[in-house]
Amino acid sequence: MSASSSSLVCLEQVSKSFRQGQVVVQALRDVSLTLARGDFVAVMGASGSGKSTLLHLMAGLTRPDAGRIEVAGECLSALSEPRLTQVRRRHIGLVFQAFNLVPSLTAEENIQLPALADGRAGLPEGVLDGLLTDLDLAARRGHRPDALSGGEQQRVAVARALSMDPALILADEPTGSLDSVSGQKLCRLLRQLNERQKRTIVMVTHEPAVACWARRVVVLRDGAILDSFADDQYHDALSLAQRYQDLVGSSAPGEVRP
Ligand SMILES: Nc1ncnc2c1ncn2[C@@H]1O[C@H](COP(=O)(O)OP(=O)(O)OP(=O)(O)O)[C@@H](O)[C@H]1O
Ligand SMILES: [Mg+2]
Repeated sequence: MSASSSSLVCLEQVSKSFRQGQVVVQALRDVSLTLARGDFVAVMGASGSGKSTLLHLMAGLTRPDAGRIEVAGECLSALSEPRLTQVRRRHIGLVFQAFNLVPSLTAEENIQLPALADGRAGLPEGVLDGLLTDLDLAARRGHRPDALSGGEQQRVAVARALSMDPALILADEPTGSLDSVSGQKLCRLLRQLNERQKRTIVMVTHEPAVACWARRVVVLRDGAILDSFADDQYHDALSLAQRYQDLVGSSAPGEVRP
């Protein structure tokens, strides 16, 4: 089966384990998930439930042990490493949980990096200035990461992920280092990118106030999808938090709610 033309991401029975010495950790087990173009999904789950692993697989940074992953019509496992890098650079904007900024480069240079790596002269002036303004970084454009706060580094990481106009935005706890006002502002920006430009977004978060900006919530537990519910099943952060608590508090792994 392959992804239909309306789907941008399709995972079929994807599993991934990591070995550390004698210990094997099953990070994801049999995960199947389809994202339509224009979807906006929040991924929630306890620490260690496999959220970052899921994002890294969608980005082609990690290869699955089993299963199939298709992004923008390309089966990732069939791609050579250079082609995979090109697909990632041109179609996917990834915000890493640990930011992954280059320490020797300024904020502005970090944001320009994907364009330079793609062989371009840099971002058009208007695009760079727009990103710096949207993410409140104009006054920090010449600062290196060690001279930026955690929240500022996170916003540089978001600007870098958006710089190539990606169809797919994968954001790993993008508000984790932000105060609540900056966090809500970033959520609004992501929602606008989703609504106005039909960008497909997968956003990992622990915060119901962040997750409720998405159109759909997927809950992971022990590497498996425990449940998924759409935004018509919660009304605000409080009702989402309640639903999430009921779910993770009461269900066994693999158990599916009616
Ligand atoms: N490179 C790796 N090597 C070994 N184990 C790994 C590796 N990456 C992830 N794991 C393990 O896989 C499991 C899932 O990790 P993952 O980072 O996906 O969790 P997470 O849901 O993102 O957690 P958090 O909320 O803490 O970020 C964890 O038990 C983790 O220790
Ligand atoms: Mg994580």
